[in-house]
Amino acid sequence: MILEELKRNAACKAVEEYVKSGMVVGLGTGTTASWVIRHLGELLARGELQNIRGISTSHRSTSLALESGIPLVTLTEARPDLTIDGADEISPDLDLVKGRGGALLREKIVAAASDALIVVADETKLFEQLGHTRLPVEVEPFGWETTLEALSSLGSEPELRTLAGEPVRTDGNHYTIDCAFGLIEDPAALEAEIKRIPGALECGLFVNMARAAVIGSREGTRILK
Ligand code: 5RP
Repeated sequence: MILEELKRNAACKAVEEYVKSGMVVGLGTGTTASWVIRHLGELLARGELQNIRGISTSHRSTSLALESGIPLVTLTEARPDLTIDGADEISPDLDLVKGRGGALLREKIVAAASDALIVVADETKLFEQLGHTRLPVEVEPFGWETTLEALSSLGSEPELRTLAGEPVRTDGNHYTIDCAFGLIEDPAALEAEIKRIPGALECGLFVNMARAAVIGSREGTRILK
């Protein structure tokens, strides 16, 4: 089974298990979250779900939601009953690393405003401990060099995210610094330290936020709580 199928299976299962008619749903960003948006659109088109409204976490997800026929609202108008989003790493406690797709600040704002966060992923995202991939930190472009130095002094090897030699901008016009910390002993403590750095707007550690993870694996799709 190819990875994309595992992602799709997890996304479809999460929508069918958790989304009910009338809900406001936070729409995550990334390849797995895209399957969530497509499946929501399909169920709406078939009349199996009604009166769903989405709150998007990125321009990409906004475009896909509108193409899929999902009406969108903003956080000014409503709060999500739940958010379904992907992750780069998931620990046994359901702590997460997110942000490889460049949308972590908006994703965290929407997830924090939701009654529940449901994670969707294929089985390659499960780890005994977080820290296998670089931890993304969304930063203010002004003075980013000093923010990078401060991230380095926390014990990481930080790298500004670039494309063709230029800094990659998030939808909020910020930069991302990807930090290799190695294995993370205490995600909550590290998150707190990073957030004390002026210029660090948000980091990709989502600690104690996910209520469940729907995991697509070769043996079937399972729900971790
Ligand atoms: C974007 C994210 C994504 O949810 C995360 O990178 C997982 O993406 P994918 O489902 O494509 O593997 O945090 O900021």
